[in-house]
Amino acid sequence: MQSPIDTLTITRPDDWHLHLRDGAVLDSVVADTARQFARAIIMPNLRPPVTTTELAHAYRDRIYSALERAGLSTTSFTPLMTLYLTDNTSADEVVRASKSGFVHGIKLYPAGATTNSDAGVTDLLGKCVPALEAMQATGMPLLVHGEVTDPEIDLFDREAIFIDRIMIPLRRAFPALKVVFEHLTTSDGVDYVREAAGPVAATITAHHLLYNRNALFQGGMRPHWYCLPVLKRERHRLALLQAASSGSGRFFLGTDSAPHAKGLKENACGCAGCYTALHAMELYATAFDSVGSLDKLEAFASLNGPAFYGLPVNQGTLTLNREAYTIPAELPMADTTVVPLAGGESLGWKVAL
Ligand code: NCD
Ligand code: ZN
Repeated sequence: MQSPIDTLTITRPDDWHLHLRDGAVLDSVVADTARQFARAIIMPNLRPPVTTTELAHAYRDRIYSALERAGLSTTSFTPLMTLYLTDNTSADEVVRASKSGFVHGIKLYPAGATTNSDAGVTDLLGKCVPALEAMQATGMPLLVHGEVTDPEIDLFDREAIFIDRIMIPLRRAFPALKVVFEHLTTSDGVDYVREAAGPVAATITAHHLLYNRNALFQGGMRPHWYCLPVLKRERHRLALLQAASSGSGRFFLGTDSAPHAKGLKENACGCAGCYTALHAMELYATAFDSVGSLDKLEAFASLNGPAFYGLPVNQGTLTLNREAYTIPAELPMADTTVVPLAGGESLGWKVAL
């Protein structure tokens, strides 16, 4: 019998789906991510949303300033900026983004699908054709929040229905468009991404690899496990874990770390989003270890994403040790408090400093 791995050193990873927010909390949030990841795709759902290359440039400057204020070097972390697709995004804007060198994707939020999505798209294949044509032509990836917003559709079925109603027609109309199916949560999504022809990939969060929907209701309602797309049944979690650790280059790491102030989650109408930037690699290592697939973590965390985005692999390394680690119960952030996912609980892995 092989002895278990106690130390794992991998190429420095990237986070291909991250919410950094803005303003006072930015300093803490960016520092947590930069401690583990060399780069991250920065989601554009600010208020107002980041809809232009110019706004993305200004946001990138604020992120670099926050890094400096947090005492980190601006060469230690690269924010990969994105634009927020709207019904009015022009082909010119896509071309500008593509030429900028710092915009790496355009994010589709179906209107009303999630936090800060009211400016989102109402009719993708009706209104966004010029933008999609320009994206296909320039090689700019479309990053997709893959849930329908039709109130008739059960919350737990929104991803599966999205595949039939949007993804398949979209990819038929734009077969060469690069598409990332963000925060995949179902076996339907896994099957689609695994089998689709053309340049399709998916990000998977740590929480969807570690928890099923029971976590939301264990002993009472637990708002810190509430995110969108919502946690699904156990069979979906197992399909995600299998996909992430399968060695397929189509699946890569995206935390979807999305901080909300404690009081806005522990609320009569609590916000969606789990904060995992602090302990992301510990969470992923725990998930991969649970199925004896630590040897597949490096491809998922550090190699598959750059290959899909056409970027070089990072230079440095990150080491994880098998050791007990208690996740802090709360994190002070500017003048608020954020509760990290599974705060107060223990994990069996810790990133070496
Ligand atoms: C994200 C947020 O809070 O910005 N929330 C979430 O539950 N994942 C938005 C998103 O990615 O859906
Ligand atoms: Zn997100």
